[in-house]
Amino acid sequence: MRKKIVAGNWKMNGTYTDSLNLFNSLRSSENEFPQNVEVMVAPPYLYLHDLLKIGSSKIKVISQNCSSKSKGAFTGEISVSMLRSISIDCSIVGHSERRIIYGESISDISEKVKQLLSENMQVVFCVGEQLEERKSDNHFKVINEQLISIYSVDPSLFSKIIVAYEPVWAIGTGETASPEQAQEMHAFIRSKLREVYANAADQTRILYGGSVKPDNAAELFSQADVDGGLVGGAALQATDFIKIIQAAG
Ligand code: PGA
Repeated sequence: MRKKIVAGNWKMNGTYTDSLNLFNSLRSSENEFPQNVEVMVAPPYLYLHDLLKIGSSKIKVISQNCSSKSKGAFTGEISVSMLRSISIDCSIVGHSERRIIYGESISDISEKVKQLLSENMQVVFCVGEQLEERKSDNHFKVINEQLISIYSVDPSLFSKIIVAYEPVWAIGTGETASPEQAQEMHAFIRSKLREVYANAADQTRILYGGSVKPDNAAELFSQADVDGGLVGGAALQATDFIKIIQAAG
């Protein structure tokens, strides 16, 4: 039985005070979170340390990104060992906004996965096809290519990997993949993982992301291979995010 995960990706939103308020609102409801759901939030780097200091036994604070390099002259970058040094032990990588807007390649993302695993960190590894790729029926091929970044992970470390399937056309658009579309792709991803990690693939959590909202979460999360969600816009409102967490229980 895979434990579901609901992760909030705050992206580049909110002032310092907004972030503290949002975190505190979530904390004040944490006793209502279902026992069988892991909850994560990924605030901007700048706020990580203070949210960790406030702390929560139910909400894990994770990073939105990390550098593909270990240290040195890389202005503006944050390394995995820096994250580790403030007790962050999980990061998102390969988000489509990083791939598309910042031009991160499959090999950049593979390096980030390696960096994270070298520090024994958990990885929320995102994949997702663009609208034209789906329209031209290339979505399975595209996702399989993106999965290359985790195919070479040492099997002993594969339990650190969480996959997030986020169709680009559904991110921030209000258009969600149908539960059937999500299930179809999640089952495909799991079948591909099984070819490489026969023993681990059935334990791997595969999250859906892309316009998850309180009113569509329960149906998405009830699909056999959908193990929770990576939530953007709706994670910025405590009441909506809490409803989504409850929908996963
Ligand atoms: P959204 O974003 O929920 O606003 O569509 C999801 C994501 O990008 O992780």
